Amino acid sequence: MRILVTGSSGQIGTNLALRLGHDGHEVFGVDKRLNTWTDEFRYLLQDLSGHYPSFPGGIGGVEYPEVDVAVHLAAHAKVHQLVRQPHRALENAIMTFNVLEFCRQQGLPIVFSSSREVYGDVHRFAEEEAKETSADFAYTESTYSASKIAGEALIYSYARCYGLNYLVFRFSNVYGRYDNDLARMVRVIPLFIHTLQREEPITVFGPEKTLDFTYVDDCIDGIVRGVEALAEGHVVNETINLAYGQGNTLTRAAELIASQLAVEPKITLAPSLLGEVTHYVADLAKARELLGYEPGVPLEDGIQRAVGWFREHRAAHPEEDAPLPRDALFPQDAEIGWKPGRTVPAS
Ligand SMILES: NC(=O)c1ccc[n+]([C@@H]2O[C@H](COP(=O)([O-])OP(=O)(O)OC[C@H]3O[C@@H](n4cnc5c(N)ncnc54)[C@H](O)[C@@H]3O)[C@@H](O)[C@H]2O)c1
Repeated sequence: MRILVTGSSGQIGTNLALRLGHDGHEVFGVDKRLNTWTDEFRYLLQDLSGHYPSFPGGIGGVEYPEVDVAVHLAAHAKVHQLVRQPHRALENAIMTFNVLEFCRQQGLPIVFSSSREVYGDVHRFAEEEAKETSADFAYTESTYSASKIAGEALIYSYARCYGLNYLVFRFSNVYGRYDNDLARMVRVIPLFIHTLQREEPITVFGPEKTLDFTYVDDCIDGIVRGVEALAEGHVVNETINLAYGQGNTLTRAAELIASQLAVEPKITLAPSLLGEVTHYVADLAKARELLGYEPGVPLEDGIQRAVGWFREHRAAHPEEDAPLPRDALFPQDAEIGWKPGRTVPAS
C-alpha cells in the first residue's frame, strides 16, 4: 500500500513509517520539522495548520503523490504546552480539518490519532475501565483534550456527511525509541531516564496517579493492524483504545528506571497538576476483538528496552547529557502563574 503519514518526524510517526517500510509498504510523510532520526523514507516539509483553501491533489496547493490511506498523527502533542498556549489546540483542529478535506476529495480512508485524554479524568467520574463509549466532551480536562475531542467530532461528521471511512485510535502514554527529544517534548519516561542517570532528584506530581503506559512497538503493531484492516474494508468506522491495559504509578515507573540504571532514586512527591488525568486503564476488548491486538510488552520489559535504547542514543550523543533548560521542566510557571517546583508533565 501507499500510505500518507502526517507527523512523520515525531515519535510515533517515525516508528510507524519505518515499520510500514519494512513491511513492504510505501510511505509518504509530511511534517513541519526535519526528521532527526532517519532518512529511510520520503517526506515533505510542510506546516499543516494553515487556513488553506480546498485543493484536491494535496494540502495547501501542494500536490501529494497518490496514496491509498492516510494516517494523521501530526499535532501539538504535549498537554501542558497546550494549556499554556491554547492557540495550539486550535491548530490541532485545523490540521485535522485540512487532512480530512484532502481525504474527502481523494476518497481516502483515514486513521486518526486520538488520546485517552478524551475520557477526561475518569477516576473522578467512574471507577471502571475506560470504554470507548464513555468519552464525553463534558469531561474535557485540558485544551489538548479539547483538541482531540474536536478532531474526533470532525471525523465522525465527515463519516456521516461524506461517507468517509475512518478508524480512531486512542493512545495512552506511549514510550520508547525516538522519544527523548527533551528540549522539544518533555515526556515523563525519557525525562526520568535522563534525570535519574544523571543521579539528580526527580519530582513525581501525583503519587496516586495511575497511568496505562504503552511500549511504542505495541502501539505501532496496533496501528499497522488498523491500517491494513481499514484499507481492506474489514474494520471501518470504529474508535478503539490502544494501550497495554494495565495501570502503573509514576513512582513505580521511576523505580523500574532506577533499577535498570542501577542508581538509588531520589523521589519527591507533589500534588498533580492542572489539566492532568490521574487515573486511566484502557479497556482493550475492542482492539482484541476487531484487530487481534495483543500487547506484548509490560512496563518492566518496556522500561528495560527504553533504557537500553536511551543509553545507546546517549553514547552517540554525549552532548545531550546536560541539565535541561528550566523552560523544558517548568514551562508554565511564568505564563500561567503556577508556583515553581510544581510541574513535571506526566504525558
Ligand atoms: N505519544 C503519546 O503518548 C500519545 C498519546 C496519545 C495521543 N498521541 C497522539 O499521537 C500523535 C503522534 O504523537 P507523537 O508522540 O509521535 O508526538 P510527536 O510530537 O513526537 O509528533 C507529532 C509530530 O507532528 C508534527 N507537527 C506538529 N504541528 C505540525 C504542523 N502544523 N504541520 C506539520 N506537522 C506538525 C510535529 O513536528 C511532530 O513531529 C499525536 O497526534 C498525539 O497527540 C500520542
